[in-house]
Amino acid sequence: MVPLKRRKVSSSTGGASTSDSRDDASKFPQVVLFLLERKMGTSRRHFLTELGRKKGFRVDESFTENVTHVISEKNSGDEVKSWLSSQGHDPTAAHLVDIRWLTESLSAGCPLDILQQHRLMERPASSGDETATFSMPIYACQRRTTLDHRNAVFTEALSLLAENAELSQDEGRAVAFRRAAATLKAFPEPLTDARQLRGCPCLGQHSLSVIQDILENGSSREVEATRRSERFKAMKLLTAIFGVGAKTAAQWFQEGIRNLPQLHQSGRVLTRAQQAGVAHYDDLTQSVTRAEADTIGQIVEEAVGAKLPSARVTLVGGFRRGKLSGHDVDFLITHPEEGREEGLIPKVVAHLEARDFLLYHKNNRNSYTEASGTPASTMDHFERCFSIFKLPMPEGGEPHSRQDDVALRRGECRRWRAVRVDLVVCPFSQFAFALLGWTGSKLFERELRRWATQQKNMSLSSHALYDNKQRKYLKAATEEEIFAHLSLEYIPPSERNA
Ligand code: UTP
Ligand code: MN
Repeated sequence: MVPLKRRKVSSSTGGASTSDSRDDASKFPQVVLFLLERKMGTSRRHFLTELGRKKGFRVDESFTENVTHVISEKNSGDEVKSWLSSQGHDPTAAHLVDIRWLTESLSAGCPLDILQQHRLMERPASSGDETATFSMPIYACQRRTTLDHRNAVFTEALSLLAENAELSQDEGRAVAFRRAAATLKAFPEPLTDARQLRGCPCLGQHSLSVIQDILENGSSREVEATRRSERFKAMKLLTAIFGVGAKTAAQWFQEGIRNLPQLHQSGRVLTRAQQAGVAHYDDLTQSVTRAEADTIGQIVEEAVGAKLPSARVTLVGGFRRGKLSGHDVDFLITHPEEGREEGLIPKVVAHLEARDFLLYHKNNRNSYTEASGTPASTMDHFERCFSIFKLPMPEGGEPHSRQDDVALRRGECRRWRAVRVDLVVCPFSQFAFALLGWTGSKLFERELRRWATQQKNMSLSSHALYDNKQRKYLKAATEEEIFAHLSLEYIPPSERNA
């Protein structure tokens, strides 16, 4: 809330107060915005104020009679009116609009007409009966999905079916199950009756029948049958080998291979990645903890700092979303001077190798150009290293894998474990896009791209955002700006766990 003592009321001549006299710079003199800090927060209000001003809008720090639009977020009309009244203002003096009006106006580059969807609802937002009026937005990138939710039994079942569809290379079905699971992750209360789901998006017949089965019988026959099926178990085991995708695993399964000993016996020629995957199978199928991710972060920072001082290393992927464990650790590296980051990967890899931190690596060079760029693509073209780290373990650490048992029987004592690590290098101008793209979740990313394409006629990738209408790339220095370009409310990483 803006403290009263900081508010400056305009003079009787109707001019703006000095701190707010930004009308010279304003492209739209008939519009004066005021952003309500309540529920929006100081930093977001500050960010949106700066962004608005950069785009030529006049945004005043305090509410005066000049203000034409009061912008608020997650407030009802009643709440904003009562706040204005409590500050001694006339609540009917300005339009009360939702943040959507601002983000859409910013992306249009001019103040838009106020439509029905921009007006604030009259019902108090915190009336306590949200479930009764609950309506879920369609795209997962419009929703806040935290790690903890109320319906794990259902989301785990649907995720297993999604995984099974992925293993069968049935992308369409996999996405349908992933979307259904994401809907339930965002559902605000424990599900006890399918009727609660009326009006919920992305729940097809198949997913609904699975949910119904669980509600009635405690589990889904289809899910349990899949879980027990020989094909699912073998495909899961084989694709858990680093370097083995669904296609290769399916071929092996066809040839009768179900497990690692059978793979050995088959005499199949393995790629270098698959050999490493088999050699470190036990370690790589065990989750990486947050503490291990942080230790690896220090090792990576040291190596990057030694080769390119002032380069920035950011932990991305699931750990940035707040997960406590993961299947790998992902880092995004950039340098504030564009171009300095080029060719960094081979240097960092040499540094790590010299210190015996790498068990395996494969480097990819940057192959991105705007001309050949495929906008809205899920694939990115960054300079990158897929690696397996040899992570030193603290002295006296518990042995934890079959490999350790073997080593111990041989009288060796292993003081390290293998961990999958991805290093990605991006030019500074693409950093916000790469950060957004590499933070995930995968479904959240997919939904962002779908929203961009279907709702905004734009193409989003981890490199750039292209506006097909204006036929130009939209720049962004922060994730917040990308959400604003897409007319989406900003969702922080911890709420992108769709
Ligand atoms: P991960 O597969 O590492 O997933 O991809 P995660 O969310 O960190 O979960 P864990 O590791 O299984 O715990 C991280 C993000 O990076 C993107 C993915 O889309 C995901 O959003 N990514 C991954 C790419 O953009 N390109 C890739 O080649 C791989
Ligand atoms: Mn990851």
